[in-house]
Amino acid sequence: MSFDRTVKIAPSILASDFANFGAECAAVEAQGADWIHVDVMDGHFVPNITFGAATCAAIRPHIKGVMDVHLMIAPVDPYIDDFAKAGADVLTAHVEAGPHIHRTLQAIRGAGMKAGVALNPGTPAEAVSELLDMVDLVCVMTVNPGFGGQKFIDMTSKIRALRAMIGDRPVHIEIDGGVDPTTTPLVVDAGADVLVAGSAVFRGGSVANPAPYGDNIRAIRVAAQQ
Ligand code: DX5
Ligand code: ZN
Repeated sequence: MSFDRTVKIAPSILASDFANFGAECAAVEAQGADWIHVDVMDGHFVPNITFGAATCAAIRPHIKGVMDVHLMIAPVDPYIDDFAKAGADVLTAHVEAGPHIHRTLQAIRGAGMKAGVALNPGTPAEAVSELLDMVDLVCVMTVNPGFGGQKFIDMTSKIRALRAMIGDRPVHIEIDGGVDPTTTPLVVDAGADVLVAGSAVFRGGSVANPAPYGDNIRAIRVAAQQ
């Protein structure tokens, strides 16, 4: 995984057919997705349950590019090796998920993955100021995590603050929640380069009819250039 700041679109399979993840991943990649975003939820850190490392391992052979795993679980540390074995390229943990995020990020890199740290809407940019040399990605949540299809919460001042704090470090700024062609210009202008989008990518299409996925991805890409 090489680093650059070109805009990358990461469809979240939370909005895809749960009975058909492998084919859904292949379909969005064929339609222009850059990364695949995989949302792991535990019903404890967030009020919803999705799936765990075994499902990520099953999905992995169907993804050619980057598998970007977003952990919405607490605790994180006991499961890091499972996600490494599952083939996660990027593993993101929430700064709010426990008292020892520094140790968690060390363990993620130690297990051979890129390390991400996510910030809930109520958490300030400064919460990651001591972590920027040990992460590859900062994920700014623009919804309260737990569900797809929620309304975008404007976090542009936080994104700008993070962009300034990150400086020349090779650290991505990822935006997650309510990303669509309307909200994309705001977050890209503020400094984001990885755009997670669930409903805005998967709406209108299916594995049998994947062309709308491509239309949706292109619409976000065009909006990112505005
Ligand atoms: C929310 C998840 C998101 C979600 C985004 O907790 O982390 O990745 O799937 O979905 P949309 O794009 O529909 O807001
Ligand atoms: Zn996510």
